[in-house]
Amino acid sequence: MAAARGEFSSRFGFLMAASGSAVGLGNIWGFPTNTASNGGAAFLIAYLVLTFLLAYPALMAELIIGRHAKSNTLTALKYISSGKKSRLLAVALGFAGMITVSFILSFYAIVSGWFVAYFFDPIARLLGMDGVAQWLTTDTVTRNSIFLIGFMILTIYIISAGVKNGIEKWASRLMPSLIIILLLLIVYVMTLAGAMDGLRAYLVPDWSRITEPQLLVDAMGQAFFSLSLGVGTMLVYGSYIRKEENLPLVGSMVALLDVGIAVLAGMLIMPAMYVALANGVEIYDAAGGLIAGPGLIVSVLPSLFSNMGFMGIIVALAFFSLMTIASVTSSISMLEVPVSYTVENHGVERHKAAIVIGSLIAIISLIITFNFDPLFDLVVTYATEVSQPLLGFFFCIFIGWIWSRNDILLEIKQGCPDAESGLFWKIWPFYVKFICPVAILVVYFQ
Ligand code: PHE
Repeated sequence: MAAARGEFSSRFGFLMAASGSAVGLGNIWGFPTNTASNGGAAFLIAYLVLTFLLAYPALMAELIIGRHAKSNTLTALKYISSGKKSRLLAVALGFAGMITVSFILSFYAIVSGWFVAYFFDPIARLLGMDGVAQWLTTDTVTRNSIFLIGFMILTIYIISAGVKNGIEKWASRLMPSLIIILLLLIVYVMTLAGAMDGLRAYLVPDWSRITEPQLLVDAMGQAFFSLSLGVGTMLVYGSYIRKEENLPLVGSMVALLDVGIAVLAGMLIMPAMYVALANGVEIYDAAGGLIAGPGLIVSVLPSLFSNMGFMGIIVALAFFSLMTIASVTSSISMLEVPVSYTVENHGVERHKAAIVIGSLIAIISLIITFNFDPLFDLVVTYATEVSQPLLGFFFCIFIGWIWSRNDILLEIKQGCPDAESGLFWKIWPFYVKFICPVAILVVYFQ
């Protein structure tokens, strides 16, 4: 094992890093998109309920295991296993998590690359370089490859600097900026014609849809993806939390920040779409639903911005810097999972591990980019809809059925001495043992 492990230096540092991981394309792109295609606030409500009933308990499971074992995912799961079989399962789960998170990063880097390109577009236009601006906003394999590689280099650079000087430092600067930019954008968009229609579409629920299986499946997937669960990210971040920290408290703060920023993002994106409509931009697809998916961010919103004159350039700059920040603080948490394992279990230096693993993931991203139609959706679906919930299920099995209840309590008590008499301990152990795994399976097999 490597000598010194990193540690977050303060509660703020951890909160920024963990909420940085959680707040990503899932919140600012996935959540509003899902809301738009699933009956507005009906989806919002299902998402809020599922986050607190299912995703928060699973998040706590990862944080507690991580902080207890103070090691990477694979070693941590092995550490809390008792027999030979559970140790084998630990190894399988550890590797499956690392592979899944690497595939998530491989498509994440592609999408993030688009947003970075769109970030440079208003700058090019400001400088009068219209040809460059045109190139930046045209979907080509060359542009996508260049920007995904650039994005991966930034991710590798931050992870090479380690927990305190890389992850914590960057997240502590970027996350507050993200919140400020988001709030400013909401205030501005609300002043535009059409915004109130968007707000209404977002906040007035279509109750008839709340029991639709597809809505529930999407809401659970969204909740798990958004809290970065099932792939060991939160476990690894948990392993960098100091022993005197109150875990149930910081865990709930991360969940609240994540949900809060998703809800805020909806208050930006949905009104922006209706503002676009008021400006003559097409916001409905052929089937009559709101345009969701990539089209929303790389066609609807840019068309809106380009209708807004000079202010559009400023808004585009702010909006795409928001997307870029959200992406980077998440991508670093993904790369940290395999890197921490390689550093700790194979004695490889951190920057070497980051470069080698990051480059391998970039190669996968390039392969997907060159074969976009057959591969992109496939990778997204397998990683986030098949693998992630299944891994989340096994994490719950580990904490509920394999790790001893006594040890779990001892771990929580560090930093939260009267945990035993608190509400968390009355509900959570039963929850992760029975409710979470069953609920995940039920939704999964829908
Ligand atoms: N939570 C991130 C988002 O919402 C995605 C993510 C998934 C990050 C898995 C880390 C691990 O975009």
